[in-house]
Amino acid sequence: MYYINENARDLLRIGYHVNRRDFLRLDLNENPGGLPEEFIRNVLSEIDPCFISEYPEMEEFIDTLADFVGVEPSNLCIVNGSSEGIRHIIEAFTAPGGKILGVTPSYAMFEVYSKMYGRNFISVNYTEDLMMPIENILEKMTPDIQLMILVNPNNPMGNAYTEDEFRTLLAKAKEMEITVLVDEAYHYFYPDTFIKYAVNDDHVLISRTFSKLFSLAGLRLGCVIGSPSSAKVLNNLCTPHNVNAVSMLFARKMMESPEIVHQLIDKHREGRVFLQNWLIEHGYEFRGENGNFIFIRQKTDADRIVERMETEKKILIKSYDGIGKFGKCLRVSTAERKFMEQFVEALEELDK
Ligand SMILES: Cc1ncc(COP(=O)(O)O)c(C=O)c1O
Repeated sequence: MYYINENARDLLRIGYHVNRRDFLRLDLNENPGGLPEEFIRNVLSEIDPCFISEYPEMEEFIDTLADFVGVEPSNLCIVNGSSEGIRHIIEAFTAPGGKILGVTPSYAMFEVYSKMYGRNFISVNYTEDLMMPIENILEKMTPDIQLMILVNPNNPMGNAYTEDEFRTLLAKAKEMEITVLVDEAYHYFYPDTFIKYAVNDDHVLISRTFSKLFSLAGLRLGCVIGSPSSAKVLNNLCTPHNVNAVSMLFARKMMESPEIVHQLIDKHREGRVFLQNWLIEHGYEFRGENGNFIFIRQKTDADRIVERMETEKKILIKSYDGIGKFGKCLRVSTAERKFMEQFVEALEELDK
């Protein structure tokens, strides 16, 4: 008998813009400038035919990554972008019909995966003034929830949980036997981490990505950090040789080049400060304390600005609706100064 997975058939997925290369891309929180050309060429020069023809060897990469994040190799599951890791976490630690708790708005794939696997996503909404008091999360925690997802800092809102707040949430999660995932995709733009809670606890997991600060989104590489036994469960769900050799080579070389990582952080910070100062000087309200993105409350029409940015200025940004008192507003990735200058020049012209 023919069978089709109805969750997959009926799933609503957004289409991504094609030919994004012709644009200044400030819509998906990538690094629009990319890594230094010289670094790219040097890494490529190490690739010989056998490197491509053989199945990838993961050991050297995993050892380097474990050292880099301060865990043991047995704490890691390597994935094709952290979005794949999140999917494995949902497969492993929630059951069909089970409940997943998260905040809204947040990274869209939490809800997409919940639908894909027939789980129920329970939302905690931000307040009108764009805050997420943890009391609102605590209130929604019930023993029938199997997974709670916290994003630190959250995309697109930019808020981060303090360690005290996290400990309070974790204590209640323990009481109710809820697995906790902390998505740290924007780590390095924001220095704090809750990794230490995950390494020995079977019910706390951290996801990380090489797509954001490390500027390797095109290579699709990420990891999940958990206790050895939960990392093993996740590794059991991976396809054989799941991550490609080129991605791991680039990521390893990045971890071995701290000067490039520092440069990326500094350049981003300079661009972000420039943008924030410009917005203040020009009377804009904005939000998004951490991460490489910002919400801007435009003065005219958000959709029209997004459209004209694309067609007239060749700049991609996003509009978000229902952002508390901001209503519909602009979300813009922050990046090095020259890109922020290009953006504000366009905004000045289009938002009047
Ligand atoms: C919060 C968050 N988590 C995860 C991801 C996925 O990143 P990737 O699959 O590229 O690692 C994103 C991407 O924008 C994100 O914003």
